[in-house]
Amino acid sequence: MEISGRVAVVTGAASGAGRAIALGLAARGAGAVVVSDIDGNGAAEVAAEIGRAGGRALAIRADVSREKDVTDLVTESEAVFGPVGLFFSNAGLIVGGGPEVPDDAWSRIWAVNVHSHVYVARAVLPGMLARGEGYLVITASAAGLLTQLGSAPYAVTKHAAVALAEWLSITHGDQGIRVSCLCPQAFTSNLLRTSVRELGGAPLAGNASGGSAQAAVDGVLTAGQVADAALDAIGTEQFLILPHPQVASYERRRADDRERWLRGMRRMQARLAREE
Ligand SMILES: NC(=O)c1ccc[n+]([C@@H]2O[C@H](COP(=O)([O-])OP(=O)(O)OC[C@H]3O[C@@H](n4cnc5c(N)ncnc54)[C@H](O)[C@@H]3O)[C@@H](O)[C@H]2O)c1
Repeated sequence: MEISGRVAVVTGAASGAGRAIALGLAARGAGAVVVSDIDGNGAAEVAAEIGRAGGRALAIRADVSREKDVTDLVTESEAVFGPVGLFFSNAGLIVGGGPEVPDDAWSRIWAVNVHSHVYVARAVLPGMLARGEGYLVITASAAGLLTQLGSAPYAVTKHAAVALAEWLSITHGDQGIRVSCLCPQAFTSNLLRTSVRELGGAPLAGNASGGSAQAAVDGVLTAGQVADAALDAIGTEQFLILPHPQVASYERRRADDRERWLRGMRRMQARLAREE
């Protein structure tokens, strides 16, 4: 799909990948960019940056874990700019730990990393289906194809996000709906700081998990590089967006021999924990 002239909405767009995607959309000629985040001031700053560069942008504060916020986001975007052609459902959080993570943190991360995408699909699909076209990009993670050492909530919710993206692509791909799933490994952002702000606790810190080191094993990209990979994929309409291409071979190895892959991940966890 052409980005040029389209109305695009980006969630989690005050920071990190979402901010870079919003700026990149404007630079690539999007008709208008709706910059949405739970951090309304941060979203306003990004929208202003786009405006200063000559683009059309609007900041809308929305908590994607609340269905009404997501519905209002789509309604307001369409009232101002017309039909939404591209929606980047990108906001996400991380928390370290396993089954012992308190229920309120499990529920919150489930709502932000999974259910938000359900709300987004519910809000944008009817219009897109009626128009016979539309593009939804869900930000998951390489953790959604492989795993996240040290964080069961992140591994589980990102797998669920990938599953939802696949289901939407299969179910609506022949009705003009394009779906992509963005699955990076580590890139520089405020994810840990944001997650502490939203969830409390110490995501992936001091738990000897190797989680951050695992994600960085193939190098840490910039948010701009991740955004470029995502925006390039809109042109080719490819489903899986892998800013770290190595993830494709890890996924193949996991599918080819699950036992071997699990043993390898245990070894990596032990090694990274020793190095921490
Ligand atoms: N940074 C990484 O290494 C990495 C790797 C793989 C995937 N991801 C994913 O990339 C996405 C973007 O994260 P990032 O790394 O750019 O982090 P970030 O913290 O820099 O940006 C995330 C933004 O989401 C917003 N947000 C959080 N909860 C929200 C909510 N309930 N409603 C609306 N907005 C909310 C935050 O305010 C923040 O501005 C996330 O889905 C994350 O899981 C990140």
